[in-house]
This record gives sequence, structure tokens and C-alpha cells, in this order.
Amino acid sequence: MPALLPIRLGVNIDHVATVRNARGGRHPDPLRVAEIAIAAGADGITAHLREDRRHIVDDDIARLKARIAKPLNLEMAATAEMVGIAKKVRPHAACIVPERRAERTTEGGLDVAGQRESLRAAVGELSACGIRVSLFIAAEPAQIEAARAIAAPVIEIHTGAWCDAVAAGNVTAAAAEFDRIVRGAALAKSSGLEVHAGHGLDFATAETIAALPEIVELNIGHFLIGAAIFDGLGAAVRSMRLAMDRGRAKAGAAGAAGAAR
Ligand code: PXP
Repeated sequence: MPALLPIRLGVNIDHVATVRNARGGRHPDPLRVAEIAIAAGADGITAHLREDRRHIVDDDIARLKARIAKPLNLEMAATAEMVGIAKKVRPHAACIVPERRAERTTEGGLDVAGQRESLRAAVGELSACGIRVSLFIAAEPAQIEAARAIAAPVIEIHTGAWCDAVAAGNVTAAAAEFDRIVRGAALAKSSGLEVHAGHGLDFATAETIAALPEIVELNIGHFLIGAAIFDGLGAAVRSMRLAMDRGRAKAGAAGAAGAAR
């Protein structure tokens, strides 16, 4: 078998903005985090501009589009407002997701089969601007078929239910969900769709799903931002310790100079 191409990693930076927005101001800046992610090997940056702007805001999208060196994937609901913003910003890609204000995260896939006409229009308008459109769906044959029928070039398979079952230690449910993903990815690829996946992935589940040859891109956010705390907080605390010690040493030196005068 020929070697597979490397699987792409899109890093979702929404929750950097969640932390920033907890205080207002610019720190931590999602743009700076995007640059760090790209320097570390991310193939693209994903950001979800929600209707309520709870994390990423319009200015983040404008700055990311202007400054990052890799593709920007804008996650968005298929509303007139968001389609208008995407047409203005022109990200490399747009991933259409269902969105409910009360949800904590994107809880389920799009019902493409139930909203063919409105989604067909959004896919057409975005595609006409040169934006690569993907639809975030469960790995259900009816949804995959509907995505193909409305001429979406890409689907992103929602991996949340599988990841939740793995995290809960529910081996039977996890096996059933993974089987659904495997069959969905094969069906989508054979229907001519490019296949991505994401939601709830961690190191172990990303390693497992990366073995599926049909899947060419994973989009991962929440786990990575959490892992960055574990990997990065020690270094940040050491820098703070040093800054405080330098401040103390200056005061000590000033005191000693005063006493010597
Ligand atoms: N892909 C899509 C379409 C999403 O909506 C999300 C969550 O914003 C992700 C991937 C990333 O999910 P997570 O933050 O759980 O890694």
C-alpha cells in the first residue's frame, strides 16, 4: 500500500478567547497562540465566530486572516450574518455548524437532510467566493448523502459521542460509535467527499482516528488548550518567580546603597 499523506491538524483556539474574555483586554491573545500553534506544526487555525460572540470576536477573525501564515478555517452557523462576514473576510475554509445559544459547545451535527435548501444556498454562496466549505455532521448515511447532494466538497465528522463514550469507559458504546465513524468515513470518501473529523479529541483518540486513511484533517481545540496549561504553567510560574526575585533584589541593592551613603 502506498504511504498515506500526513493527516492535517487544525488547532481550534476558541478557548484562548474564552480565557481572554473572562477579564476583557487582550491577554491571552488568540493571534499569538495561533502563531505558536503554527510554529509547533499546526497546519491551520480554526476559530468559531458564534452569534453571541462568547469567545472569538469579529476583530480576532480579521486579525487572524490578516496575520497567520497558514489557512484559517472559520466555523460558523449558516445564518445571513455569518455568510456575509465570511464573504467579506474570505477565510480559506468555512465549516458550517449547528448553533444553539444555550449549548456549551457544538453538541450535535447539522441536520443537512432536513435543511437541504437553506444549506445548499449557503454552500453555494461561500463556494462561489472560493471558500472551501465543510459541513459538520454525524457519521450518518442520510447526512452524508445529503451533504453530497447539496454539493458540499467536505464533511467534518462529529467525534463527540465517540470521545464521550471513551472518556466514560463505556467500551460497548465506544466501539459502536467508532464503527459508525469508520463506516461513515468510507461512505463519504467513496461519495467523493473530503473527510475531516473533530470534537472532543485527545491524544489517545486522535492517535486512534488518525489511522483511518479516509480522514485527511482533524480539528482539535479544548483538549489542547487544557494540555497547554499542564505543559506551560510550570514555565510561566518559574518566569514569575524570577521576575519577583529580580524586583526584590533591586530593592535590596537600593537599600544597601542607601545604607552605604
Ligand atoms: N470541529 C468543530 C466543527 C467544532 O465545532 C469544534 C468545537 O468548536 C471542534 C472541531 C473542536 O472540538 P474540541 O474543542 O472539543 O476539540
